[in-house]
Amino acid sequence: MKRNLLVSALLLLGFVSLKCNAQVYLDPNAPVEDRVKDALSRMTVHEKVLIIHAQSGFTSAGVPRLGIRQLNMSDGPHGAREELDWNSWRPARWTNDSIVAFPSLTCLAATWNTDMSRIYGSAVSEEFAFRGKDMMLGPGVNINRVPLNGRNFEYMGEDPYLAGEMVVPYIQAVQKNGVATCIKHFFLNNQEMWRSDVNVNVSERAVEEIYLPAFEAAVKRAGTWSIMGSYNKWLDRHCCQNDSSLNSILKRRWGFDGVVVSDWGGTHSTEEAAFGGLDIEMGSAKSYNAYYLADDFEQMVKEGKVPMSILDDKAARVLRTMFRTCMNPRKIIGNIGSEAHYDACRNIGEEGIVLLKNEKSILPLQADNYRKILVVGDNATRNMSYGGGSSELKTRFDISPLDGLRKVYGDKIVYVQGYTTGRPASGSADGAGDDEQARLKTEALEAAKDADLVIFIGGMNKSRHQDCEGTDREGYELNYGQNDLITQLAKVQKNLIVVTFSGSPFATPWIKDVRAMLHCWYLGSMSGETLANVISGKVNPSGKLPVTFAKRQEDYPCFQYGPEGYPGIEKRVDDKVTHQVYYKEGIYVGYRHFNTNKVEPQFPFGFGLSYTTFRYGKASATANADGTWTVSVPVTNTGKVFGKEVVELYISDDECSVDRPAKELKGFTKLALSPGETKDATFTVTRRDLSFFDEATHAWKAEPGTFTAHVAASETDVRSTVTLELR
Ligand code: GLC
Repeated sequence: MKRNLLVSALLLLGFVSLKCNAQVYLDPNAPVEDRVKDALSRMTVHEKVLIIHAQSGFTSAGVPRLGIRQLNMSDGPHGAREELDWNSWRPARWTNDSIVAFPSLTCLAATWNTDMSRIYGSAVSEEFAFRGKDMMLGPGVNINRVPLNGRNFEYMGEDPYLAGEMVVPYIQAVQKNGVATCIKHFFLNNQEMWRSDVNVNVSERAVEEIYLPAFEAAVKRAGTWSIMGSYNKWLDRHCCQNDSSLNSILKRRWGFDGVVVSDWGGTHSTEEAAFGGLDIEMGSAKSYNAYYLADDFEQMVKEGKVPMSILDDKAARVLRTMFRTCMNPRKIIGNIGSEAHYDACRNIGEEGIVLLKNEKSILPLQADNYRKILVVGDNATRNMSYGGGSSELKTRFDISPLDGLRKVYGDKIVYVQGYTTGRPASGSADGAGDDEQARLKTEALEAAKDADLVIFIGGMNKSRHQDCEGTDREGYELNYGQNDLITQLAKVQKNLIVVTFSGSPFATPWIKDVRAMLHCWYLGSMSGETLANVISGKVNPSGKLPVTFAKRQEDYPCFQYGPEGYPGIEKRVDDKVTHQVYYKEGIYVGYRHFNTNKVEPQFPFGFGLSYTTFRYGKASATANADGTWTVSVPVTNTGKVFGKEVVELYISDDECSVDRPAKELKGFTKLALSPGETKDATFTVTRRDLSFFDEATHAWKAEPGTFTAHVAASETDVRSTVTLELR
């Protein structure tokens, strides 16, 4: 009897303790902060340390004992990367991880349409969620300082205001679905050359006016839940463990409450990571317990060399991210490959394509006007979803430019490759052997003679030293003999249209010889349909450049200070070889340089044509009681087809105690106008929009006086101005 009682009591006790353990965290609908505090109070020191570093290639640990799940991370900003092996970079070769590739972020920036950002973020995060991912490693908002940077295609152009405005809705839409964005790479990651250790020497004013604002918008306006440190150094500290950028600026000044994730392999010291603001260490090439924030760190905590408060802060940030994502009862299920996602991919691409030239309105192409249309170029058939580094994608399908054009123009379309990107047979660094290139060029020129029109489809691709992580381009020219081929084609066929794909600008020495040019960035899975819709006129192009296309490489400011300006120099510091790069141009990046120093670009920032025309009326400004101004301008579609027009607002300081750019972008809006329709473009200008960063007082400052508001169709095409008076 007694024995039975004892057994029953033990069973009851076991059940009760299990029941208690089952209630190891608060109601999932409790406020996140309550759940964080509750979980933290139940965790051991070792459990707290386990969640602040990787447990596999792309996951950080949860707390199994407490029923708290691991964090699943995945690249990249253009779609959910295929599954990789648990502990290596090798593809896991799953058969259910193909997804939709969305356009590159430079293409999104080129839409100048924040609605597209919201649509993009919503669609891409549905695919991440369905793939069971909690954190998207992206988007990237590093400034395009160097046109040769291998990762410009992942970023949003040369202007911090445009990048900031375009990234905020993307982040908000992604996180609304319970997926964290991980804004990257924070910060000053503007080249791939020596990326793992180059120390960026840059003025305080350039940091504050050029390199921080897009990240600040992502943190303070969009509330990104995570941010990724960059590989490079600033103030001689790696940016994945940098007290100045991660604690002083990000966490204290901006109030960032999320989690700082290292770039993969970007952590170099337990002490610097402990005190330098890193919260999750990823990708350090060693066994996980040997990570800098693993056993050694735990030992330092136990010895009191690192206060428990530091560990608790890191663990709390990780838990907060978990309760916002993988433990969030409102995280969506999501879906992959829906019609809505392919529509989003196409619509974003259609609004991001930039029409750079259209002589005698040869575009849109009316099929009936042509008997034979020759398509030339490797990029007409090349799959651009693969390659490029960590942003590469395994897609369900991609519609190539050639297939897209054939769908519209049928057998009028004839194709020849024109050039090859094969490995150099003759040892030349640029493309395949000379014989093969010569054969393909001859074939293309012969075919061009017999066609009514030629569409050349080229540009860059995602191979090394093109648009690819880990390497920069070796020059500003297009590779594989494209310039010569285009020039030769123009001699045998005056009806020549050039279509290019790339994340960065390049030289266009043949531009006067061709009748039209479309630049497409990278368009993702629907490339062919997107391009065909614009070429055929089904969609009127409305993209504008988020970067300046210079005539020559040396026209960019980063090249005007010798190797110190780019890619940097080797310098001995404390008897160690270091890499140092000097941003000597300061704030004069992109159009800020071209305009202020009167260097004529090939195509200016903010430039893009349409199949219709727009007339801008007179700009007006009213001063508001809250100290802002409202600037307004009527815009009319004076053409025959529907179109969208990006109206840009630039501000210049008529008189200032310090040098300032000739003008700076402080507003934009995109108007959809039917033929004959007029709408007002309206902007609100704030005191901050008039300000510069004053290094004397380490603060933003607007000096009383007059400012000019320029309403423009591009940075160099000002349609109307109005004066603002700051008292
Ligand atoms: C890479 C990239 C980063 C990426 C990470 C994981 O080195 O710099 O953008 O998210 O590692 O692949």
